[in-house]
Amino acid sequence: MLRSIQLVILTLVLMFFAAPPASAQQLMNVAVSRVEPGQAVIVVKTDVPTDVTIDYGTAPGVYTASVSAAGSARHELPLTGLPGSARVYYRLTVADSAAPATSFSYPEDSFSSFKAPGQPYSFMAVGDNRPSFSSPVLPAAAWIANVQMMADARPDLALHSGDVITAENTDTAALNEEKYDAFFGATSVLTRSVPLYMAAGNHEQLYTAVGMAGYLREFTLPEHNGPDAATRGELYYSFDHGDTHFVILCSEIPGQTGLVTGDQLVWLQDDLAANTRPWLVVVVHKPLFGESGALSHANDPWTNPASAVGQQNRADVIALFRQYGVDIVFEGHDHYYKRHVDSGIQYIVTGGGGSPLYSLPFMGPGDVIQASAFHHVRVDETAGSLAVSAIDTGGKTLESFTLGTPALGLSNADAYWASMSDYGSRQLSVDYTMDNHGEGDAENVEIIYAQATNGVFPLTTLPAPVGDLRKGGSGPVTMKYLVQPGVSSFQTTTYAVCDGLDGARHFFPGPPPGT
Ligand SMILES: [Fe+2]
Repeated sequence: MLRSIQLVILTLVLMFFAAPPASAQQLMNVAVSRVEPGQAVIVVKTDVPTDVTIDYGTAPGVYTASVSAAGSARHELPLTGLPGSARVYYRLTVADSAAPATSFSYPEDSFSSFKAPGQPYSFMAVGDNRPSFSSPVLPAAAWIANVQMMADARPDLALHSGDVITAENTDTAALNEEKYDAFFGATSVLTRSVPLYMAAGNHEQLYTAVGMAGYLREFTLPEHNGPDAATRGELYYSFDHGDTHFVILCSEIPGQTGLVTGDQLVWLQDDLAANTRPWLVVVVHKPLFGESGALSHANDPWTNPASAVGQQNRADVIALFRQYGVDIVFEGHDHYYKRHVDSGIQYIVTGGGGSPLYSLPFMGPGDVIQASAFHHVRVDETAGSLAVSAIDTGGKTLESFTLGTPALGLSNADAYWASMSDYGSRQLSVDYTMDNHGEGDAENVEIIYAQATNGVFPLTTLPAPVGDLRKGGSGPVTMKYLVQPGVSSFQTTTYAVCDGLDGARHFFPGPPPGT
């Protein structure tokens, strides 16, 4: 009895401290940003000017450093001295600058610090959560569910392929800010523990002064060092994390809408050429293999066959991706999930963040899968593989695949006469298990050549299809051999080939004799 009374009292105390006093300032946004070697930035935005302190350290509740800022409604607080591959715990304390007695400490939060090459990690990609035109301020219900799922999975970082708000030409600066505040109000559940790296979408309306000012004001992103860095530094940029180099492009630069051209294209080539990480991931709003014909984005330069400028630029960008071995391009704009493969590059439209879904287009050459579903994409990275899963807001996996080098092997041979007829004609069956113990999926596996010792002759018609073997997967393979009377043992060598998701053909145990 005594215990239950203590529990009730404790619960009441916790409830009392779980929210700031009703008269205190409101948090509009808390966003971990720019996680870099040794440092990170935390953005804190409030409804009134505030004084802010962040205490932080690498163990829960143990704060070994502190940073403060005062007298502003939007702060960018640098956290320094962070060790690599650590969980950084922080406590945010906020006071109304005009009424310091309102000081309030929020519950502790945490994020992953920078990871050096060789450290495994995970990231997510999502796009197109903007509200509908009929309700252009309040976040879409599907986004609220989606972003909570992303936050619960605690990835190291998240990528956004654009269209976070529904800006309109008539928006005042105040209404633009209200739209961003509504977005961050729904999204801080993620951004307070996961840095969100943005690629701007057309609905941010960078082509209006209000739209450009709002985007640059609300996001704190890495900046590129190209000739237009002073005005466009945050619009396109790159950064490293673990074994991956991330490149964020902008298809929405005023005067270059729907293209990646000019200074950005020059910078892109230089950036890709300078990369030293094994994995290359690109984010851009408009899709390079998007809808065309009479569908919704038919007039965008990259999808409009009649746009000579667009088609040339599209070819130039795709050629760079091929030349430098880009692995995945995350895109948005079309509100569904779709994967297209070109030259071993995975082009993933992840446009199902929460905006009204589109009906699906026809599948074209190179299209692998499409789904009209609210979703995000999760990627788990090691040096040897990128495991990719598209997950809808019901928790269902739309598809999953693993990039990396496949490795095929044969084992568990069992030899037998399958029938009296086979026995009579000396046709021996041998069951094998073929496994893929490599780092990536194997597609279109085929046995292409077989040989045996002691005069034994392979009878199975080659090439013999085996199918697809996912990373870690295995499947049965049966071969037949002509075995002359008197032969009691022999050795076989079997050659197989498969397509890797890197676009290359892989031979096991190597190219067959005579090739
Ligand atoms: Fe868009």
